Amino acid sequence: AEVVIVENAAAAGALVADEIVRLIRADPSVVLGLATGSTPLPVYEALRSRVADVDVSQVRGFALDEYVGIDPAHPESYRSVITREVVEPLGLDPARIRVPDGRTDGIEHAGADYEAAIDAAGGVALQLLGIGTDGHIGFNEPGSSFASITRVKTLTEQTREDNARFFPSIDDVPMHCITQGLGTILRAKHLVLLAFGDGKAEAVAGAVEGPVTASLPGSAIQLHPHATVVVDEAAASHLR
Ligand code: F6R
Repeated sequence: AEVVIVENAAAAGALVADEIVRLIRADPSVVLGLATGSTPLPVYEALRSRVADVDVSQVRGFALDEYVGIDPAHPESYRSVITREVVEPLGLDPARIRVPDGRTDGIEHAGADYEAAIDAAGGVALQLLGIGTDGHIGFNEPGSSFASITRVKTLTEQTREDNARFFPSIDDVPMHCITQGLGTILRAKHLVLLAFGDGKAEAVAGAVEGPVTASLPGSAIQLHPHATVVVDEAAASHLR
């Protein structure tokens, strides 16, 4: 992967937002791969001012993951988060932005439906990625197959603890999720993995330089011909 070390998260946001605007200008119905969590927020923030004079009405998007068994209207469902942090502030068409369907009713075909929708859209042009402290991307925890597609997974205790900050208590964090697989993610044309802070340094080093291993799902990016890693000094501190 190409590693770009930037001064801070805002600089990373500006860099990636510039690239996304370039893609939208080249193809107004470009398919973006969206991520939730704290990491991509500077990108969405930087996009706000940049899309003011860009036609984004045709932009399509696919989120990485969703909790299972959470009402889509729940404020912490990833559907709600994507609506609040991306769709509304950027003025995207909500009908063109998809999030995996985590409702239990129909969950057995939700993964296949999502894969089919991505394929029908012609694939993702640019996939935003964060990385977990244990090296997960999407909700693909250590041990996930590099060939995996969108499917239901059990959240690890660590990830439920990490995400408990968004819920009244850890007991309210769902037990399961539906996530794009590593195989799904690897089919995007360009991967952009962002990471900030020293808490991510070990995972970043493993993803970029460590052995390619299912024990560190982020290392799957080494199999991709066009992966860019944008990090601040702290997140880059374990790179050799
Ligand atoms: C988000 C996602 C996760 C996060 C990761 C890092 O859609 O799939 O892999 O990117 O857990 O989370 P933050 O950015 O909150 O540190």
